[in-house]
Amino acid sequence: MPRSIIIDTDPGQDDALAILLALGSPDALEVIGITAVAGNVPLALTSRNVRVICELAGRRDITVCAGADRPLLRPLVTAEHVHGKTGLDGADLPEPTMPLDPRHGVDFIIETLMTRAAGTVTLCPLGPLTNIAMALIREPRIASRIKEIVLMGGGCFEGGNITPAAEFNIFVDPHAAKVVFGAGVPITMMSLDVTHKALTSRSRVASIKAIGSKVSDAAAGWLDFFERFDVQKYGSEGGPLHDPCVIAWLIRPELFSGRRCNVEIETVSELTMGMTVIDWWGVTERPKNAHVLGDVDADGFFALIAQAISRL
Ligand code: RIB
Ligand code: CA
Repeated sequence: MPRSIIIDTDPGQDDALAILLALGSPDALEVIGITAVAGNVPLALTSRNVRVICELAGRRDITVCAGADRPLLRPLVTAEHVHGKTGLDGADLPEPTMPLDPRHGVDFIIETLMTRAAGTVTLCPLGPLTNIAMALIREPRIASRIKEIVLMGGGCFEGGNITPAAEFNIFVDPHAAKVVFGAGVPITMMSLDVTHKALTSRSRVASIKAIGSKVSDAAAGWLDFFERFDVQKYGSEGGPLHDPCVIAWLIRPELFSGRRCNVEIETVSELTMGMTVIDWWGVTERPKNAHVLGDVDADGFFALIAQAISRL
C-alpha cells in the first residue's frame, strides 16, 4: 500500500530531484499534491518550477498549489546564488502549461488532512516551514491527523549553511519552525548532518546521465549546476543532495540512521537566528520531539534515485 504524502517545496534543483524520486516510486508513494512555498527563489518561480518538474515527469495530473510568498514574520531571504535566478538553472525546459490549482497551498493541506482518514497523510516539507505552520495555526485539529512530518532542515554538528549557526530552510522562517517543532506532531528531521553525507560525485551524476532520457538529462544538468556552489565552499568532491533524503527515507528507511532528540529553534538572537539546538547527547530533560537522522548509505541512496528516474 503506497504511503500518501503531500510535498511542500521551494524548487531548487535538489527539491526537483526529490520530486522526481517521489513520482518515480509509485509502488511506495502516492503524491496527493505538491504545495509551493517561497524559499530558494520567490513563490512565482517555485510555483512555476513545481509544474516544470511535474511536466518533465509526465505528471500533468498532479495537484499543484501556491502557498505562502513570505515567512510568517521575517522578510524573505532567497538563494539565487546557489540555485541560479530561475531556481532550476542547469536544464533548459519549456514553460509549464499545466495550471495551478486555485486553492491556496495552506487550504489544500488542511482540506486534505481533514478529509483523508486520520493518520494516513505524511507531510514532506523541503523548504521553509511557512505553509506547514500556517496550516497548524489556521486549523489546529490537523495536528492529531498528520501521520508524520518528514522534513529537510536544521543542523547539529554540521552547524549552518546560510549563517554559521543556521541551515537555510529554518533560517528563512524560524518562527514557522518553532510552531512546527512545538506542535506535538511526529517529526523526522533530515539535517545537514545526514545530507552532507549524500554527496553528488562525477560517477554518481554519470550513472544518472547514462539513463539517457529527457528526465535523466535534466536531472544530471541540475546536479552539475547545483553542486558547483558546495564544491567551491566546502572543497568537497560533490554537492550535498539535501531534499531527496526526505523521500528516500520514506521508501528505504534502512538506508539511514539517527536518534530521537529534543530540538528547539532559536528565534531571539540575530547571531544564531534559526539555529536548531539539538540535544544529541540527551543532556537536558526537554522532550524528544524529533527523530534526527545523522547517517546515510550514500551508494544505496543514489541507486534509489537512479532507479526512480529510469522509471519516468
Ligand atoms: O539548506 C538546504 C535546503 O535549503 C534545501 O532544501 C535547499 O533546497 C534549500 O531549500
Ligand atoms: Ca528545498
